[in-house]
Amino acid sequence: MDNPFRPTFGASPRVWAGRDAVLEDFARAVDGAPGNPDRSILISGSRGIGKTVLLTELEDIAKQRGWLVLRASAREDIARVLVESAIPEAIESLDRTTRRKVTGISIAGIGSVSTQVESQEPSKRLTTQLRDLIDRLQGAGVLITIDEIQDVSAEDLTQVAIAYQDLVRDDLPVAVAMAGLTLGINDLLNLPGATFLRRARHYELGPLTLADAEQALAGTAKEGGLEFPSAADAAAFSQGYPYLVQLTGYLAWESAVGMGLDALDNRALEDAMPRAIDRLGTQVHQPALREVPHRQREYLEAMASIALRTPDGVVATAEISEELGISATSLSDTRSKLIDRDLITPAGWGKVEFAQPYLGEYIRDQRRPRRVQ
Ligand SMILES: Nc1ncnc2c1ncn2[C@@H]1O[C@H](COP(=O)(O)OP(=O)(O)O)[C@@H](O)[C@H]1O
Ligand SMILES: [Mg+2]
Repeated sequence: MDNPFRPTFGASPRVWAGRDAVLEDFARAVDGAPGNPDRSILISGSRGIGKTVLLTELEDIAKQRGWLVLRASAREDIARVLVESAIPEAIESLDRTTRRKVTGISIAGIGSVSTQVESQEPSKRLTTQLRDLIDRLQGAGVLITIDEIQDVSAEDLTQVAIAYQDLVRDDLPVAVAMAGLTLGINDLLNLPGATFLRRARHYELGPLTLADAEQALAGTAKEGGLEFPSAADAAAFSQGYPYLVQLTGYLAWESAVGMGLDALDNRALEDAMPRAIDRLGTQVHQPALREVPHRQREYLEAMASIALRTPDGVVATAEISEELGISATSLSDTRSKLIDRDLITPAGWGKVEFAQPYLGEYIRDQRRPRRVQ
């Protein structure tokens, strides 16, 4: 039996959980009139929280309504890729089809088709082309999705913004959905020219509710052909963090099959949990900590050791400053940098907690002396 769980970044889950507000708002916006403010959406959150797959869901909503989706990744020159390949390809494929409404055409913004370079300004070309494309859609609209927006250049973003605003001003059916890491998005939002982003409907993704996580776990296992009697425990273990939900399910499945069990019960889960924490460390924590400067690292280490003594992992900032022997005022800058990095989050007045599950454990583990033979 194939493992139905998908602990892979960007891979849509077999069973979807939560995020209803975003999906409903967006569906309503697409169904509504042009200029609906919810037609521009900004999704932020940490690695593994489910931004990319949420963009995919939004694309599906648009496609179901006959809209055309243009997907761009901020790792490339968005405007150029749209103008030089994605839009021309879309137009060409539309010209080939005779259907009145086009459904389910998705154009990957990769592989640039060489076209003659016009002397027009890039944003003008983008606007012109989008108009041309919308014209051919006979009432349906265009959704542009941009992932990893934290990597976008300000200039590129401006071009998309100008084109988008131009089309909206003329009541044309266009929408844009962007997603990226919290820190990068906060930086972008602070740029003087970021009115476009600030006007977008902003959703900061948090963990799934445990009930939603449990449903996804049990439902996914069932789709694969096995019951998951320990789904509630697995959900609690995952803390609703989507990547860990998939990972826990995946490894519990693997354990169950390996042990010859006919359900994902406690034995399977017990076997899977330490392996899940291990893999979470290398896939999520390690990359997130890679470029953390010394000062912030010290803060995290102090926090991790104090968290060990608290029942809920919530740590008073006063205790961190005591532990480090540094005044709370001098530490507040470090604290806010770590919040921006999405490594810690405020947890009530004067308190913080780790932003991802098992991050404290990971940091403590790194500090442990290695046994040498
Ligand atoms: N709403 C959800 N329901 C179930 N699984 C989800 C959900 N959102 C994300 N996941 C899973 O979490 C993992 C990370 O999702 P992804 O969109 O790649 O995160 P991000 O882009 O924020 O790093 C994937 O394995 C995905 O299948
Ligand atoms: Mg992603």
